[in-house]
Amino acid sequence: STGHIPSMFAVILRTKARIVRINEFEPVELTCIIHFASTYNLRIEWKKIRNGIPSYVYYRRKIVGDLENRAQLREPASMLIFNATRTDTAEYRCEVAYNDGSGEFDEIKINLEVRVKPVEPQCSVPKAVTVGMAAELQCLENEGFPAPVYRWFRNNEELPQDPKNSPKFINATYTMNTSTGSLKFHRVRKEDAGEYHCQAKNDAGHAHCPANLMEVHDVDILAIILKSVGGVIAALFVISSIWCFASRVYASKKARNENE
Ligand SMILES: *[C@@H]1O[C@H](CO)[C@@H](O)[C@H](O)[C@H]1NC(C)=O
Ligand SMILES: *[C@@H]1O[C@H](CO)[C@@H](O)[C@H](O)[C@H]1NC(C)=O
Repeated sequence: STGHIPSMFAVILRTKARIVRINEFEPVELTCIIHFASTYNLRIEWKKIRNGIPSYVYYRRKIVGDLENRAQLREPASMLIFNATRTDTAEYRCEVAYNDGSGEFDEIKINLEVRVKPVEPQCSVPKAVTVGMAAELQCLENEGFPAPVYRWFRNNEELPQDPKNSPKFINATYTMNTSTGSLKFHRVRKEDAGEYHCQAKNDAGHAHCPANLMEVHDVDILAIILKSVGGVIAALFVISSIWCFASRVYASKKARNENE
């Protein structure tokens, strides 16, 4: 290229946007505007570069490859994709050259990001947990692009990301990871029981899983204490009875001996 000094033979391209973001199943135009050219005898080509692999999508005046039957050239050089899909996410390169063999050309690169709405996430909620124990709830969604952010709800009320910042949840012991979807209770409380659901959200939309009930059971501490204390008391009773009996026998023996 001749750098930024436009010679009278140069081609100069422009675009309305070098980064284009749309939602899947929408039309999109990648603009390649011929700002300057000293001839109409131009060769126009579009390439798609995805995962480092280039392929033609407009070549010899035809839409080809991945975009065949799905796009058209908008004169003179822009490209309209009728109904973008997730696999159209790529870098596109518009190249315009003189057809006279002079080697004069310009190119413009456009990054297209096709956003995909999340589908219903997979949620895992333990059915029953015991007070004081740890518990983890998980939420996972794999279709959304860009990767979704997760939110958790209990009885349709959103849980704050950090319970310490909310007066209502100040005593809750969970940590929430909004990028992995994990909701981890370190010590479950009675108040944590309820219907849980999770939402996966990105710029294209959101989806949520059905609510799942998590029950929280008391540890029956009283029963455990009574059982163990009861055992100890019974043992003490037996020991003390034996002791009592033995000492009484001894005492009466001693008394008899003294009398004799
Ligand atoms: C775009 O493509 C999708 C999937 O093939 C289809 O369901 C949808 O109806 C199309 N939208 C338009 C506007 O053609
Ligand atoms: C949090 O715990 C403290 C101390 O046990 C208590 O006084 C307070 O009412 C609790 N707050 C909530 C919102 O449960």
